[in-house]
Amino acid sequence: MIGRRAVLAAPMALAACDRLASAETPALRVPPLKTVAPCPFGTCVQIANLDDPSWRDLASVQISQLTPEWEMKMEYVLADGLAHPRFDRTDRIIDYARANAMTVHGHTLIWYSQGREAFAGLDDAAFDRAFDGYIAAVAGRYRGKVRSWDVVNEPILDDGSALRDCHWSARYGQDGYILRAFEVARRADPDAVLFLNEYNLEGIPKKGATFLRLVERLLKAGCPLQGLGAQSHLWIDIAEGRIAAFMREAAGFGLPIHVSELDVTLRTDKGALDLRSHADRVARQTARVTELTEAFMALPPAQRFAFTTWGLRDTDSWYRKADKDDGKDSPLPFDQNGRPNPMAGALATAFGRA
Ligand code: XIL
Repeated sequence: MIGRRAVLAAPMALAACDRLASAETPALRVPPLKTVAPCPFGTCVQIANLDDPSWRDLASVQISQLTPEWEMKMEYVLADGLAHPRFDRTDRIIDYARANAMTVHGHTLIWYSQGREAFAGLDDAAFDRAFDGYIAAVAGRYRGKVRSWDVVNEPILDDGSALRDCHWSARYGQDGYILRAFEVARRADPDAVLFLNEYNLEGIPKKGATFLRLVERLLKAGCPLQGLGAQSHLWIDIAEGRIAAFMREAAGFGLPIHVSELDVTLRTDKGALDLRSHADRVARQTARVTELTEAFMALPPAQRFAFTTWGLRDTDSWYRKADKDDGKDSPLPFDQNGRPNPMAGALATAFGRA
């Protein structure tokens, strides 16, 4: 039976240890990332972030570009159906960005994973009107207010073996829907930089290769594709050199490159069987972030479009809201209190090596 005195002492001892630990590990001092990045340094944003004063404070210091995380997507815009698009939240995000000298990267016009319900049951002519009309309405509404667009998101199968089949490709073909989306977006906003955006291009070389072959086909077909988005949802066990290898290959098109959704989960497919220490896994995370950022810095300046993390603080991460969240992941540059994680230091160091 633990005596009352011991019970009282335990939390005090733990608190002292924690204070000692925090005292021993002084907070990392990192310059504001938007001041050391060679291009706009961004993060994703939802309305909930704008209503959070601590998020706004951190973003005002660190960030110069925003990507709507959810509310600019078809799932939100068409939640009330094709005839009643919702722009309330994205309008607020755009207004906040303009009031805080931040640019906006639009995300995303056409995505395989959304829109099936809203477009269900339409005959071909109605489908065409709805497809073109949606892109024209959204890209047209924000013409002059967004710097760029992810016109098409995630067109390739996870294993990289082929392009995805989806409700868009069923109507226009796999390359066809992408070509059509870019052409309509080009007409709706002649000045925005138009991107094709994809994930796991670095860690799954076959997927990166399929993506680059798609880019080549689209450009040969005259697609107004102007930028390549590498989401960079990385993991700590990507073999050294793979990230840099993809960036070098992608650079070959001479197009702007957007590191568009960077996070590096500490979770691995070993799950609880991953017996490596937190420090070991953070060291691996830092190595992957350094490799990515140095590869980005090796690009010609004109190809360094923007560098965006998919969240600012660990608790903002989609990984920390997922059903399999273990409450311990630290995939982003700042901890839940807005203090720099080692990732922020790695970013600033690699940016500073320009
Ligand atoms: C995710 C958001 O972070 C989640 O909040 C949302 O529930 C689902 O979408 N690749 C993308 C992003 O291009 O749009 C996804 O964002 C993450 C993967």
